[in-house]
Amino acid sequence: MIHLDPPAELAMPLADAMFTQRAIRRLDPNQPITDAELELVLDAASKAPSGANTQPARFLVIRSRDAIDAFGRLYHEAWWAKRADELGWTVDQEVPADSPYRMAALLAAEMHQAPAVILAFAPGRRPEATASSVFPAVQNLMLAARALGIGSVLTTLHPSVMERVYTLLGVPDDVSFHACIPLGRPRGRFGPTRRRPTAETTSWNTWGTPPPWN
Ligand SMILES: Cc1cc2nc3c(=O)[nH]c(=O)nc-3n(C[C@H](O)[C@H](O)[C@H](O)COP(=O)(O)O)c2cc1C
Repeated sequence: MIHLDPPAELAMPLADAMFTQRAIRRLDPNQPITDAELELVLDAASKAPSGANTQPARFLVIRSRDAIDAFGRLYHEAWWAKRADELGWTVDQEVPADSPYRMAALLAAEMHQAPAVILAFAPGRRPEATASSVFPAVQNLMLAARALGIGSVLTTLHPSVMERVYTLLGVPDDVSFHACIPLGRPRGRFGPTRRRPTAETTSWNTWGTPPPWN
């Protein structure tokens, strides 16, 4: 179905969605999300802006249990490959208890049981040429998920697993991978996020001049 009018299911006030959307990595494997909900979040993604309205974003919804399971194992491998590259960590015990990576490690261990995973791609072999027209759609998708009470988090993969991910899911090699978004009901809460104050991140008329609310 093509929605011309805003779907009533996404009626959450925009401010509520934006100000309570945080990375949800603890997904409830026992609470399903429906195909109709997935259609809604993809519909919201389709409304995003893109350069010259080229709409390059392409989404692959991993929905079958077997495929999510196989993908989850590759995601786990990819997550640890990134940590090995960056920090030299190879096992869970090396992740400090107070590290922001703790929850990400948990997601890596649990990705295989996510109710759904959406991968974002774009045509062409140069992801840097399409990224800026894909990520607005990804953010729309995640905000729509929030409005439906579905948690999500934007994640990436590692080059070492990419060929196997493409083979697993039948992705042709002339499209570029951009993002991996697991979806599920949160085992926890949506809530406020901690961000830098805008007075710190914003200049007024000339670089370095603070805004009037500084
Ligand atoms: C480009 C990008 C890549 C990210 N990669 C990962 C990732 O690989 N694994 C992960 O668990 N979270 C990943 N995140 C999620 C961020 O860690 C999260 O958005 C950030 O810490 C803010 O979290 P909060 O909204 O809960 O405050 C990524 C986010 C972005 C925008």
